[in-house]
Amino acid sequence: MQIKTDYNTAIKRKYPEQVVIAITKDKSGKFNPITIGWAMITSHYPPMMAISVGLQRYSLEVIRYSKEFVISFPSSIMDKEALFYGTKSGRDIDKFAECKINTEPAHKIDCIILSDAVANFECKLESELKTGDHIIFTGRVVSSHINEDNSLERLYILETGYKMGKFVKSYNNQ
Ligand SMILES: Cc1cc2nc3c(=O)[nH]c(=O)nc-3n(C[C@H](O)[C@H](O)[C@H](O)COP(=O)(O)O)c2cc1C
Repeated sequence: MQIKTDYNTAIKRKYPEQVVIAITKDKSGKFNPITIGWAMITSHYPPMMAISVGLQRYSLEVIRYSKEFVISFPSSIMDKEALFYGTKSGRDIDKFAECKINTEPAHKIDCIILSDAVANFECKLESELKTGDHIIFTGRVVSSHINEDNSLERLYILETGYKMGKFVKSYNNQ
């Protein structure tokens, strides 16, 4: 049986939620990471993925400019970096310079991939869709990578307030 409630209360039941880090290269040549909870696979053939980017984000104008981006699935050890990249703007700082992380060149696009991530996907921008205060960008995957260490686990948002870590069965969803 369901209890009728308001949206803000009900949506807290979504946790744990996967996290990705999307990376773009801006006009000045700076790589800019953004932490994203709202990401999904949208097609198998061809492989495509989508990220939902807030209208105020610097990443939004950079994606429109570069028309390509990397979607990285961070491992659970990357929680501090994900929090930094998700709370500072590339409009103000060089996030990779201030919060260093291991990177490697992407293969098919002019970008970088994250070495300690579970997986990385290089995407070419296909389309965008305005949805309220966010824009959904879909990208066609043109190159895929996995970590040689199979024991790494993905990073999740565990509860409101950007608490991140490994997937846990028992979590606070109040
Ligand atoms: C765990 C987490 C999840 C986030 N999810 C999203 C998201 O799905 N979409 C979005 O636009 N911003 C999201 N953000 C906020 C952006 O990462 C944040 O505003 C960032 O500073 C934007 O960087 P930019 O201005 O360099 O693009 C999230 C932040 C965190 C910490």
